[in-house]
Amino acid sequence: MEIVALEKLDPAQVTDCARILREAFAASGGYGGPSEAEREIASFLPPGERFALAAVEGRRVLGLVGGIDTYSHAMELHPLVVDPPQQGRGIGAALVKALEAQAAARGKLAVYLGTDDEIGGTSLFGADIFPNALAKLAAIAPTTGHPFFFYQKLGYEPIGVIPDANGFGKPDLLMGRRIAKT
Ligand SMILES: CC(C)(COP(=O)(O)OP(=O)(O)OC[C@H]1O[C@@H](n2cnc3c(N)ncnc32)[C@H](O)[C@@H]1OP(=O)(O)O)[C@@H](O)C(=O)NCCC(=O)NCCS
Repeated sequence: MEIVALEKLDPAQVTDCARILREAFAASGGYGGPSEAEREIASFLPPGERFALAAVEGRRVLGLVGGIDTYSHAMELHPLVVDPPQQGRGIGAALVKALEAQAAARGKLAVYLGTDDEIGGTSLFGADIFPNALAKLAAIAPTTGHPFFFYQKLGYEPIGVIPDANGFGKPDLLMGRRIAKT
């Protein structure tokens, strides 16, 4: 497996990136609209403030990660996806590490991300986060499992929460990790 810049892929591989995005987020209803996944992938081409990296094995695309240059010193990780049959092989972790290396090369000090809990998986799903949102975030625990805990394994910590981001009891969980110091 190697990790390459999205713009190095051929058109069929870029199309496959959109398929992976659609299929991996099917359960949560993400990228369900017509051409939504294709538009998301296209937004990273050509690279600039938005860039993406793909994990490939031969000609096969295994997954991808995007980076968005939102702040001068912090980079947003979005999106991250691994083709469902390829999950659990360490590909997601490798993509996050590669994104962090790119972020550091661009002078960033931190990487941050938002991970929605729209279908359950954490103790905050279905809960009223007001009042004391941050105390509830600090006590978050897995129920059926969620990428929040994947990111936690990679050193990301909770840095905020958007209550009801996707409907009542469906928050967006914000996480971040320092990757360099001044
Ligand atoms: C989340 C996702 C990117 C993880 O990628 P992956 O390649 O399956 O994960 P890895 O194999 O690299 O896992 C790395 C470690 O995290 C753990 N892990 C993976 N998913 C986890 C989860 N949901 N909860 C807890 N731990 C998890 C793995 O067990 C592994 O642990 P180990 O190092 O002790 O063996 C992948 O499941 C995915 O694409 N999901 C659908 C899209 C999605 O939810 N993206 C994130 C949106 S913010």
